[in-house]
Amino acid sequence: MTTQENVPLELNDIQSGVLRPRPTPYAATYIALRIDASDAGRELMRRVGNVVTSAANPTSPLADTWVSVALTYPGLKALGVPHKSLDSFAWEFKQGMAARANELGDIGESSPENWERPLGTGDIHVVLVAVAPNDRQLEAVLAPARKAYRDMRGIEAIWRQDCHALPTETEPFGFRDGISHPAIEGSGIHGSNPKEQPLKAGEFVLGYRDELGGIQRTQPDVLGRNGTYVVFRKLHQRVAAFRQFLKANSTDPEDEELLAAKMMGRWRSGAPLALCPFQDDVALGADRGRNNTFLYKEDDPAGFKTPGGSHIRRTNPRDASVAGVVRLHRMIRRGTAYGPLLPEGVLEDDGVDRGLMFAFVGAHLGRQFEFVQSQWINDGVFFGAGDAKDPIVGSSDGTNSFTIPRRPVRKRLQGLHRFVITRGGEYCFMPGLQAMRWLADLRT
Ligand code: HEM
Repeated sequence: MTTQENVPLELNDIQSGVLRPRPTPYAATYIALRIDASDAGRELMRRVGNVVTSAANPTSPLADTWVSVALTYPGLKALGVPHKSLDSFAWEFKQGMAARANELGDIGESSPENWERPLGTGDIHVVLVAVAPNDRQLEAVLAPARKAYRDMRGIEAIWRQDCHALPTETEPFGFRDGISHPAIEGSGIHGSNPKEQPLKAGEFVLGYRDELGGIQRTQPDVLGRNGTYVVFRKLHQRVAAFRQFLKANSTDPEDEELLAAKMMGRWRSGAPLALCPFQDDVALGADRGRNNTFLYKEDDPAGFKTPGGSHIRRTNPRDASVAGVVRLHRMIRRGTAYGPLLPEGVLEDDGVDRGLMFAFVGAHLGRQFEFVQSQWINDGVFFGAGDAKDPIVGSSDGTNSFTIPRRPVRKRLQGLHRFVITRGGEYCFMPGLQAMRWLADLRT
């Protein structure tokens, strides 16, 4: 019997953007393309295939700059991928994000009919993402990618989103982001929590064994192998409303910071409540060697330090007692901020669009992204908190509450509003480099 245990990842066939955490600071651009002629689409695959770098050298500083290419299900169809192959992709991917709106909590203001066009319309076929540590390097990597599609008949650039690290190097609510990421067997990239066992490669890349012992394959094998699913979501953040909520529910600025930390599970510096529950420790927040080295079960089972309902404990309960198996719901995640910073101290909304381009990377759209979004973010049953939602990113409607375990009595905050609105997004597949050549060579 051949075993796939510890099979090394074929890094030279995996797109760089799949495994590598984004640089800090960063500049990034998302470009969405529509394919109007299948032969042009296949030529596009050939050309962009030449500018996509592989994950082969994951620790080189030069590898901090990359272009990734991903396709939606309508995009695969537009290239002329045969039915048998299309059918072999994940069910959720075939549905697309807009069709999954109810499950994802994209209702009311966040519902697809209110999304920014053309997100969720089926018109987006290809998404190019360029990431670099600064604008100069971003431009250098974007120029050849643009050359690949510009002036090509049958290919239309229909949407673009620029993202930049804010001067505070935080996400728009003011928290350090990009800290916690999983270790993946055979990837050569260290996870950020030495207390977490590396996850099987098949959790993140198709064609390898996953935590349940299965291997995801497509028809033919080459199309899926070394590829992965990617979820892009443009998430608008109501920064002024978030600040107002903090102010209205605290006694002074110090108390406000503690409340913010209780909602996130980390102080704004990135320092985790698990390691410094009473006051911020800025040096710890910035220390990549220490800022994610913790678990919950032994030290804080009841959430007196890190509330069970906080954003980071919900989205990764680590070893805490919750219903289900946490390792089956891990994800690679990248947030890049868009829009300007709301100046410090401003409590009134200035009407400017700002937020996060959220990206999920993983081999299991259903049990990873959708599960975390629907069960852990928008429900509280898994840790015994009824229908309480994530206090920061949940789809609250003004009637939700957030509980902070405390002695002698817990504190319960009522009337949580929605601080994050979905502006749109797409489910994509990010093929391996050989698969891109297979797509380029398709004959219809
Ligand atoms: C605008 C929306 C969001 C904001 C502002 C936000 C912010 C943050 C911040 C500041 C952290 C802590 C830093 C870190 O560990 O890297 C974090 C962690 C995390 N977030 Fe979010 N997030 C957002 C949306 C989401 C969504 C939609 C998901 C999943 C569907 C998600 C999943 C996670 C996960 C898995 C972690 C790591 C938890 C851990 O391992 O401790 N986030 N987020």
